[in-house]
Amino acid sequence: MTAALAESFHRDFALPAYDPTPAAWSRAEVESEDRWTFALDAQQAADLIDTVRRSRVEGQPLLAYRQADFDLGAAFGTLADAFREVRDGRGMALIRNLPREGVSPQEFELMTWAIGLHFGVARPQNRLSAYINEVKDVGGIYRSPTGRGYSSNAELDFHVDGSDVVLLSCYNQAPVGGMSMVTSSVKAYEVVRAERPDLAAALHTPYPFSRNGEETGDEPPWFLAPLAGVEAGRLTCVWNRNRLENALKIDGVPPLSAVQREAVEYLDSVVRRPELMFCMHLEPGDLQLLDNQTVLHSRTSFEDHEDEARKRTLYRLWIARPDSFRLPADWAPYTGNAEAGTVRGGSKGHFHDDTCRRFDAEQAAAMGMKG
Ligand SMILES: [Fe+2]
Repeated sequence: MTAALAESFHRDFALPAYDPTPAAWSRAEVESEDRWTFALDAQQAADLIDTVRRSRVEGQPLLAYRQADFDLGAAFGTLADAFREVRDGRGMALIRNLPREGVSPQEFELMTWAIGLHFGVARPQNRLSAYINEVKDVGGIYRSPTGRGYSSNAELDFHVDGSDVVLLSCYNQAPVGGMSMVTSSVKAYEVVRAERPDLAAALHTPYPFSRNGEETGDEPPWFLAPLAGVEAGRLTCVWNRNRLENALKIDGVPPLSAVQREAVEYLDSVVRRPELMFCMHLEPGDLQLLDNQTVLHSRTSFEDHEDEARKRTLYRLWIARPDSFRLPADWAPYTGNAEAGTVRGGSKGHFHDDTCRRFDAEQAAAMGMKG
């Protein structure tokens, strides 16, 4: 869309109606309630580590495990409640007390994977087509054209990840910093809409986003998608500044209109307002679940341990869920497709081979999902 077209679009655009939703929360609301926090009891935690230890084969890649390899036992019900809250409630959940004491990083990673196998189809996350990533500072540069936050110690912009749900399990926390921040994107949109309806309209226009060099041969390096949309009465809002700024450096990408630029600057100021932004410190054994269509997340910079074995380590898993909602049709470039309950999202990357395709197909079948 040209700048002139975008300007006329936002002037003439009628902001769509949508249904009220608990996903539009303020900080005070989530601080004063426990609907989105869960804790495993001793039996549930024991069931989780038992199934991991029974099924784990030293050196076997994650993609070789199947849902039937793991029985989550008594833990399943609480995890299912948490996933339900993510979809139908606050768009986030925190599950405490995953077994951690005496658990190796490999066991903890496989436990995260095993949970994912029961709640959706894992999606690849990067150029290497990895289906789970260690979130650890390995000296990555967040602001480079292909930079990703998970491999750096930098403070991150508020953003969404590229799947229905992101699971983040905490193995080690940093001694200083590394605070997790979450803001309801639905609430942030509502604030923009109440204060600056002209800018809210601009959030419904297409913005360019870079694939950060993770595109496959048949994908263009960037795509256009709006930040806000309504489908079947459900408002969704996504945002990722790093991928927008990277797209604007690519040849042939249309510049933002003045209103589009003002809209994202305004949105970014709103998401950090103290009455909206909720901070939590993930502790070892915590599992955070976030809905990437209704909440944005960020993280403060951190200082790490010198000792390699104690360095801040989290495991990040992206999943497409079987009970997902249909998304606005113009989000298809972003998620692959907008249909409900489909295997969507992820960055296929450069190594999405037959092993990956077999895993995707078999896991989709196990979850009763369409490819
Ligand atoms: Fe993220």
